[in-house]
Amino acid sequence: MDIVILGSGRGSNANAILKAWKDGQLGKAQVKAVISDVLDAPILNIAKSYQVQARPIEINANTAKISEGDTNKLIELTNEFKPKLIVLAGFMKILSHSFIQEYESRIINIHPSLLPSFKGLNAIKRAFECGVKISGCTVHWVSKGVDEGKIIAQLPVRVMDSDTLDSFTQKIHAAEHFLLPEVISQLSFAEN
Ligand code: GRF
Repeated sequence: MDIVILGSGRGSNANAILKAWKDGQLGKAQVKAVISDVLDAPILNIAKSYQVQARPIEINANTAKISEGDTNKLIELTNEFKPKLIVLAGFMKILSHSFIQEYESRIINIHPSLLPSFKGLNAIKRAFECGVKISGCTVHWVSKGVDEGKIIAQLPVRVMDSDTLDSFTQKIHAAEHFLLPEVISQLSFAEN
C-alpha cells in the first residue's frame, strides 16, 4: 500500500509514521513521498532524513481552501506516486471537493480531539479551556465536510488536575503518534 503524506508544519506525526515504517511496524505500507504546501516546513526535512521524497508545492497561501488551479497541480504531483492512501498529517489547507473525489475513500486525517467534539483549529486549547476531563485524538476518513468524515479510530487522553495546557498538549501528541501509525498498519492489512 503506497502512501503519500501531506503536511504543513512541524511534522511530528509524519515522523511517527516514518519511524514506524523504518522499524517494520507499518504492515504492508510504503511511504513514497511527503508533500508540503509550506516550502520551508520542517516536515520536508524529516522526510529527507528518512530518504523519502520531500516535495514542496506552491499553493496560494492567502486562502484557506485550495483553488481549482492549485488542486490540479496538487493532483498532478500526488499522482506521480500513485498512492493507495493519502495521510493528512497536519495539512493546514482545506482540500477542494475535486481532490477529495479524485481520491475517494483513500484520504485519512489525524485530528487532536475526540470528534465530533472540537472540530476545526486550536482543538487542543479549546478542549483544555472548556475544562473537559477527557479528550484525545481521532483518525477519520476525509469527506467534504471539514473534520466530518467517518471515524476510523480514537484514543482518549485524560485531563488531570495537575495538567497545564502544555503538558496536556504533549499527551495529545503522544497519543497521535501512537494511533496514526497503528491505523495505517491496520489499513495496509485490510487492503487487497
Ligand atoms: C496535529 O496535532 C494534528 O492532529 C493536527 O495538526 C497537528 C500537526 O502536528 N491536524 P505535526 O505537524 O504532525 O507535528
